[in-house]
Amino acid sequence: MNRVVCPGSFDPITYGHLDIIARASALFDEVVIAVLVNQTKKSLFTVEERLEMISEVTAQYPNVRVDSWSGLLVDYCETNQIGSIIKGLRAVSDFDYELQMSQINYQLKGIETLFMSTSPAHSFLSSSLVKEVASFGGDVSSYLPPIIQKRLLDRLNSHKSQG
Ligand code: PNS
Repeated sequence: MNRVVCPGSFDPITYGHLDIIARASALFDEVVIAVLVNQTKKSLFTVEERLEMISEVTAQYPNVRVDSWSGLLVDYCETNQIGSIIKGLRAVSDFDYELQMSQINYQLKGIETLFMSTSPAHSFLSSSLVKEVASFGGDVSSYLPPIIQKRLLDRLNSHKSQG
């Protein structure tokens, strides 16, 4: 079976991620979306919440499944017999870091990284920017599926009311 992992923080998942996931699902037998636990990065949603949200908005792709992992991505790949990683590249600014990661991941365990260019409609999108825009009351409806937008606004409002 030709399987690929699509890793990230997905805090929360955006239309940019979904574009890559949808296109990868047409190319591979199975796409595993892996939510990587990053202890040093403060997240808005728990890993469980992110898994649930991703499952909901990818339910229409029968060959896409969701998982989480704490540790090196290459160890996830080895443990789950996945030979390649797929990443979306938005702009040249993504390239340096992504290149370094892909080279180290190949050197560590021989795991290949495939880069898919993000659709121009989403090339500026990132979860961090979406959170910032939403936190100041900006319209994020074109960046996120409605159910994710609702969860994001509810979470930001509950943070505000907690002071
Ligand atoms: O959505 P993000 O935060 O840009 O995703 C980055 C992610 C999670 C894919 C990357 O940080 C990662 O692969 N983390 C797992 C830990 C790891 O393997 N680090 C070494 C890569 S060189």
